[in-house]
Formats: sequence, C-alpha cells, structure tokens
Amino acid sequence: MSKTEWRIGVAGLGTVGGGLLNFLSDHPDFAPAGGRAIVTGVSARSRSRPRPFDISNLPWFDDPVALALSPDNNVFVELIGGSDGPAKAAVEAALNAGKAVVTANKALIAEHGAELAVLAEAKGVPLLFEAAVMGGTPAVKIMREALVGEEVKSVAGILNGTCNYILSEMDSGGRAFADVLAEAQRLGYAETDPTMDVGGFDAAHKISILAALAFGCAPNYAAAEIEGIDQVALLDIQLAKDLGYKIKLIASADRSADGVLVRVHPTLVAQNHPLAQAGGALNALFIEGTRIGRIYLQGPGAGSSPTAAAVAADIADVMTGAVRPVFQAPATTLKAFTPIDPAKSMCRAYLRFLVKDEPGVIAAVSETLAEAGVSIESFLQKPVGNADGVPIVLTTHAVAESVLAAAIDRIANLPSVLDRPRLLRIARI
Ligand code: HSE
Repeated sequence: MSKTEWRIGVAGLGTVGGGLLNFLSDHPDFAPAGGRAIVTGVSARSRSRPRPFDISNLPWFDDPVALALSPDNNVFVELIGGSDGPAKAAVEAALNAGKAVVTANKALIAEHGAELAVLAEAKGVPLLFEAAVMGGTPAVKIMREALVGEEVKSVAGILNGTCNYILSEMDSGGRAFADVLAEAQRLGYAETDPTMDVGGFDAAHKISILAALAFGCAPNYAAAEIEGIDQVALLDIQLAKDLGYKIKLIASADRSADGVLVRVHPTLVAQNHPLAQAGGALNALFIEGTRIGRIYLQGPGAGSSPTAAAVAADIADVMTGAVRPVFQAPATTLKAFTPIDPAKSMCRAYLRFLVKDEPGVIAAVSETLAEAGVSIESFLQKPVGNADGVPIVLTTHAVAESVLAAAIDRIANLPSVLDRPRLLRIARI
C-alpha cells in the first residue's frame, strides 16, 4: 500500500459519518500532502437503514473491530460514539494494528483518553479528536498546538448546543423546559434519550478534554462536578432576566495553586456578555492565558457538515504525517490533576426562595444570610405570588460555596420558607 494512498475505514454512519462520506465524495482530490484518499470500508449498526447518502459501492463490515483490523485501510475513523463497547474495542484494535485513528468521540477520549494515548504513542501513530469538542469550531488544535507555549489559566464556555438551544428557546419564547425539549426531539435536534445532553454529561466530557489539553494533564472526567439544565425553571430564566442576566449551561476548568476545578452548571451570565449573546445551538469558549490574555471562539458545535469538516481536518493531519503527543506532553508522563474541592471555591450566587406572603419573611431570610456571613448584592420581589407562596430573589457578593451551602440549609428550615431555595452561580468570566 503506497504511503500516499490514504485508505480510510469509517465506523459509524450517523450524522457525522454521513457528512464525512459526502465530503470525501465531493472532494475526490482531498489530500493536502499529495496522494489520494479513498474510503475502503464502512461499518454501522444497520446496513439496510435508509440513509441520505449512498453506501452501496462501499465494502461493508458488520463488526467495527473487523473494519479496524482490515488490511484494506490504514486510517480508522471512529464515529460510533459511547465511552466503551464497540467504539473503544475498535479504536484499541486499530491502534494495536498500528493505524492512525481519528474520532469524534468525546466520551471515549474524556474517560479513556489517557490509556489510549499511551497505546497510540507506543505504536507511533496519531490519535486525533478535533470533532469531539465544539464540533466544527476548532478548539482541540488551538489548545494542543497553537497554545502549547502558553500557560492557560482557565477555559470556560458553552459546549452543548442542545442545552443552549433549549435555554435560548425558554428565554425567548417563555416556554417551560419540558415543552422545548419535546419540540427539540420532534425536530431531531435532541436525542430520543437526551440525558447526556440535558444532564450536562456531554459538556462535562468536552470540558474534561479541554482541561487536559489546557493544563498538560490526563483527562479526569471522574473529577468533574456536573449539573444539567433539567431543573432550570422558566421562573428562574424570567427572574434572571429582570436582574440583567441570561441562564446558560457553562462548562469551566480553572487552575490554581491548589489544583484544578472542572465543573458544568447552569450559570447566570450578564446579558451584554458575549456568552449570553451566543444563542440558539451555538457553542462558545473563552480561553484565558497568562500571556495571551483572552481568546474567544464561537461557532457550530454540532451538525453534519461542520463536524465532518473537523474530522477531515484530522484526516489531513494524518496525511501530512504530523505525529505529536495526543495531549500536550508524552502520554507516559501525564498525571491526572489534583481536583479542588468545589466547597472551597468562591462564587457570586443567585438565590430564589419561595416564601409565605407574610410580615417579617424578608427580614428572616436576610438576617440568616447576614449571620452566616453572606453579603447581599441585589434583591428582587415580584408580585407573582399565589396560594403556593411568592418568590423572592437575591444575588450575593462573592462568598465561599461552603458558607453559602450552610446558609441555604438554615434558610430552608425557616417556617416561612416553603421550598428548597434555588441556587444558581453567577459567571466569573
Ligand atoms: N449533542 C451535542 C450537542 C453535539 O448538543 O452539542 C455533539 O457533541
């Protein structure tokens, strides 16, 4: 097999796999370093499923591991998804066979990236995953290559388009979470099982990968603190708006002398902040470094053509022969970072209480906060009460999260407070 003949096996023919086949058939001369690229085999769960692209002339493999091991390809593209099962087995098989691997699988890289990187580097082959984070918007190469000489302090942004779409629609249309989710599923934006997206797990996989690249560590998904958007109430979106904020699902990774804090939370972002203005299904990311200051990226985080373009960019790197460490340093030297206890971090908070509409309630809440050492920044009471109580909302100055949690526990036990107080963090970015 000539080294300038790039024979590509594609496992997984969903949205991204279809986009890649379309791209390669529309660009028969796609080979940035010369030679040619041809698809020599495909694999998916069902051969007969109707698809908007033709696979009838492509050799078919029922088993992705058999495709990964086939001598007919020298580049294996994994677009199956999932942290374990066939995706992991096929990627391991391809790496063990000494093949370059390109994947869009954020769960696989976030959960098993360290061991796969050791394998890839032992075999001297690339393991590339640009499409795993922010879909068609370059983020991985920026972190791994362009910023390898920078000391990154933090990365934070919107890394899940489904959640951003749902929150944006709740905000603009005044509709509840369940209504918008059902519509997103009908339109095919959200998966039938939307747990990975709305539970915050997809964003946590992505920020875990970015944290590893940013801080020169192994991915440490297990250390991520994860809260999704399924408990975001329309009431909070409306009250946050009255206070000058939008609610966004923010994934962040911050480094300090004590370690690294990786978290995903619904977060209040000031309405004039670029992240608040990244609406619909857009993704957006701030990178902050000691020398560069801030970089801001915004673009599509999903979709067939944009994500396939990111996969194609990785295939182009394989073709040009670039073999770098999978993360920022040789895999055998990478360590998992030391996670910081979130309770020790500081935050500004939005607190919403549902209280009885009776004298002394606001005084009781504010006295409890004052006794705990929590300083109130702003306060709002909306006349939208009914027999179930009235909401009062306040924002705090920066306070240790452990202090805040203790104050909330005490307020929850006040007789005039009808429900567990709702805490949302306010973005520091
Ligand atoms: N489901 C993801 C999102 C796209 O909604 O952003 C693929 O990572």
